Amino acid sequence: MASVKMVICIGSSCFARGNSENVKIVEDFIAQRGLEDELDIELSGGLCTNNCPDGPVVIVNDKIYKHVNPDVMLDIMESHFPAKGE
Ligand code: FES
Repeated sequence: MASVKMVICIGSSCFARGNSENVKIVEDFIAQRGLEDELDIELSGGLCTNNCPDGPVVIVNDKIYKHVNPDVMLDIMESHFPAKGE
């Protein structure tokens, strides 16, 4: 069962500002670490609230992350899924 629920906003603003790239980063991360069963990803254009100016927006377990550039996206993934065996 998935332990982490992630919503990546793919409304036009967030998508253009970087979430198109963030989706790929997350997918690659999942593939490399074998996290298919641990992360539930939803790509949503429907959560476009008033966060567009602070986008790209990613929500993890109801916590909103703003200005998510690729480095931040990787940090989010690492913090939720630390490498095993270290
Ligand atoms: S497009 Fe993502 S919050 Fe508006």
